[in-house]
Amino acid sequence: MSVRVEALTGALLTAHLPDVARLRIEVFRAYPYLYDGDLAYERDYIAAFAAAPNAVIVAAFDGDEVVGASTAAPLRAQVGKVTAPFRSRGDDLSAYFYFGESVLRASYRGHGIGVRFFEEREAHARACGARYAAFCSVVRPAEHPARPKGYEPLDAFWGKRGYAPEPGLICNMSWKEIGALAESAKPMQFWTKRLS
Ligand SMILES: CC(C)(COP(=O)(O)OP(=O)(O)OC[C@H]1O[C@@H](n2cnc3c(N)ncnc32)[C@H](O)[C@@H]1OP(=O)(O)O)[C@@H](O)C(=O)NCCC(=O)NCCS
Repeated sequence: MSVRVEALTGALLTAHLPDVARLRIEVFRAYPYLYDGDLAYERDYIAAFAAAPNAVIVAAFDGDEVVGASTAAPLRAQVGKVTAPFRSRGDDLSAYFYFGESVLRASYRGHGIGVRFFEEREAHARACGARYAAFCSVVRPAEHPARPKGYEPLDAFWGKRGYAPEPGLICNMSWKEIGALAESAKPMQFWTKRLS
């Protein structure tokens, strides 16, 4: 598989923002996100992400096509619901980089691209002076009716990258699930790693 992985900033980041939105809608339809993609929401989300200083997209290219993307930006540039759990325990927000999504088209998985997404984002975060990386992941009950047979949570993958969930460090995010009439809030568990 000849896929190249590149960290994009500045004008290149801006040029590839629509690819992130497209992949979020494509990949997050599946369990555990079940996201009924909404272009208006994506526009706002992406505009806020792009406005953060030191934001980066790590993109996987097959030829000219972006088949996967992951994002990162300083935690202090994130919306209040993301920063609140860190603020309330007295953390120095400037020490953290926040990793947004990793979304890789299913047919490209299992070739180490997800590992590269973490390596590239961590290198960028360190270069920007961050001492910790953090991301959050949706919490689903083990018996969720939409959980596919044989579904493997990514916990082992994240653990191998050096991340651990921080008990009680949780926020809520809302989106409309496939088949639902309205948005509903979901608990999101933060995972962190010391970078230096
Ligand atoms: C997360 C994601 C980007 C990982 O991409 P990937 O390229 O398939 O991952 P890699 O090939 O780099 O996997 C590296 C290692 O993790 C393991 N791994 C990958 N997915 C795993 C899973 N679901 N459960 C356990 N281990 C997993 C691989 O076996 C491999 O292990 P190894 O190092 O022992 O060989 C991809 O699975 C994805 O897009 N998932 C859907 C979206 C999502 O849930 N994103 C995360 C939250 S935003």
